[in-house]
Amino acid sequence: MILPASIQEVNDTAKIEDVVGDFVNLKRRGANYSGLCPFHNEKTPSFNVNPARNIFKCFGCGKAGDPITFVMEHEQVSYVEAVRYLAKKYRIELKETEYTDQQREAQRELDSLYLVNQFAHDYFQQQLFETDRGKSVGLAYFKQRGFREETMRNFGLGFTQNEWDGLLNTAKRAGYNPDLLKKLGLLTQSERDFFRDRVMFSIHNLTGKVIAFAGRIMNKDPKQPKYINSPETEIYLKSKVLYGMFQAKKAIRQFDECLLVEGYTDVISLHQAGIENVVASSGTALTPDQIRLIKRFTPNIRFVYDGDAAGIKAALRGLDLALEEDMDVRLVLLPNQEDPDSFVQRVGADAFKEYLVENGKDIVQFEAELLLKEAGNDPTKRAGVLGQIAKTIAKIRNPLRRDEYLKVTRQLLAVDEGKLLHEVNRQVKQDLEKQQKLHGATPNWDENEDSSEQEMPRSRPQVQEQTISIGDEFQEKDLIRVLVHFGDEMYDAEHKVTVAQFIWLNIQDVVSEFDNAFYRRVLEESMGQAQQGVALNHGFFLQHKEADIRQLAANLLSSPYEFSEGWEKRREILLNQKMPEVNFQIDANLVIKQLKLRKIGRIIRQNQEKIKTNPEDLMDLLRLDQRLKEMRNSLAKELGMVVV
Ligand code: CTP
Ligand code: MN
Repeated sequence: MILPASIQEVNDTAKIEDVVGDFVNLKRRGANYSGLCPFHNEKTPSFNVNPARNIFKCFGCGKAGDPITFVMEHEQVSYVEAVRYLAKKYRIELKETEYTDQQREAQRELDSLYLVNQFAHDYFQQQLFETDRGKSVGLAYFKQRGFREETMRNFGLGFTQNEWDGLLNTAKRAGYNPDLLKKLGLLTQSERDFFRDRVMFSIHNLTGKVIAFAGRIMNKDPKQPKYINSPETEIYLKSKVLYGMFQAKKAIRQFDECLLVEGYTDVISLHQAGIENVVASSGTALTPDQIRLIKRFTPNIRFVYDGDAAGIKAALRGLDLALEEDMDVRLVLLPNQEDPDSFVQRVGADAFKEYLVENGKDIVQFEAELLLKEAGNDPTKRAGVLGQIAKTIAKIRNPLRRDEYLKVTRQLLAVDEGKLLHEVNRQVKQDLEKQQKLHGATPNWDENEDSSEQEMPRSRPQVQEQTISIGDEFQEKDLIRVLVHFGDEMYDAEHKVTVAQFIWLNIQDVVSEFDNAFYRRVLEESMGQAQQGVALNHGFFLQHKEADIRQLAANLLSSPYEFSEGWEKRREILLNQKMPEVNFQIDANLVIKQLKLRKIGRIIRQNQEKIKTNPEDLMDLLRLDQRLKEMRNSLAKELGMVVV
């Protein structure tokens, strides 16, 4: 394990402009730099680097973070690997705790598993391309399916003879331990070849190492499974792997979209046709880990499934999951009886792409159309559609994206905004309560590696109600913004009160009313740290152990105050007005008041409900009502006075 002091040294030494500069052509712009974003396709630069804060941020795709995050994202490596990369670049010697013999042994075993798989892969290829039966049966099969040799090599396709010990004997002769082959599922328990008389598909991890195999029978035999697959092993966790990701990742990033299909051959055919941003879930139900894997490359996912009932059902399950992971989801159903492989081979790449564009539906549109069709003219069923769609929208965590869907749905279902919003809010609350029951008081919503929080285009905190948002999320986020920016500053130097402490003192009483569990967690967690004497400075948030919090902080810290295009010009105009950077007391005050105003409004409404239902407490409740309204009015007045 790398010692924390060493990680600290890397953090302190690595300069964001140097680290990014190795990959992106940066141009100076005042105190900052800008360039073309390496994470999505763009023609005008919206990627910014801020040396003062040592962070980068893309205003196009939302990616943001510190040097370590940049390396992790750009090179698709783990945290530790990114630290090692930077240490090498800056010639920092990393101090590490000694590995135990056990750890060393485990590493050796992992290495040998990869080696054996590579050996088996080479063997299967050699059988395909260099043996008589391989050529006349295996190669002929692939060719008849329209695969070119180049494609076969690129995807590591192979062949096995109809024999029990071909692989076993070759491996033994080459000095490989049969126990390892057994462990990998290449041999059965009775030490016979597991894959026999099949064409072979290699499954790779992200770095291109062979981690598993699938074998397909070449004839139609209802008594045998069409595909057999390697078992799960230490190097093959099915729920975390997507077939074709190694070959697709570059194109996925480049086109900022990932096509998701069902089968191995679909991936291969599309790739061969030049549509390379495609992966498959390989027959199993899509998992959250697989969606997160895609999310490392793009937030946009397009399901391309068969148009039959099974395809639709499979798609719907996956769509929900992807939504919960905050992906932008679209869906395309293919004409009946076609899968992507057959379809692209029949119509060609251009027509295929055209079909994707013309038939792509966003999830809400798809679901609404499907449900409305099912409901027919039945008025009660039609009314139920609203509830169903609200359920789907409630799953979307990103408030901005949720707003977009709300707008679409309003038009699609021709319902009024209030009604829809009410329904969605009800669902969000219900989901929250369910979560709370499952995970205790503070649910951990966002366990995903990198949530793509999007920056709110905002200038000053504003008093007007946001048009459509879920509860008070915007205000809660704004409070976190102030905490992250200025938590460590002195709110009241004379009495040694920091901004963080000031916020906490003033907000404690309404924290339980937070709508967004993530923001609440950030607040409570950091306050807990602060009470133990930890300084809530930028580093605290930017180097937080939770990736979500790091990402949120990076987003908030690269606010449009310093980055937005024409900022240099605006700066002159605004020069006479005080910026939040120097005016954080007022800023902190504003957010707290704004949030409290909303929370009090809610408590008033709840209290008024009680007045209706609890006549016995009427006098007390009315007095409370009175007091709450006074508080609300005075808050509103104060806000009215300071807001420009
Ligand atoms: N699958 C599997 N085991 C099976 C059947 C299917 O693992 N017995 C998985 C495979 O990953 C397969 C995917 O489910 O690629 C989709 O199945 P299917 O549509 O039947 O196969 P295709 O990929 O279309 O294969 P082919 O075109 O060769 O029939
Ligand atoms: Mn097929």
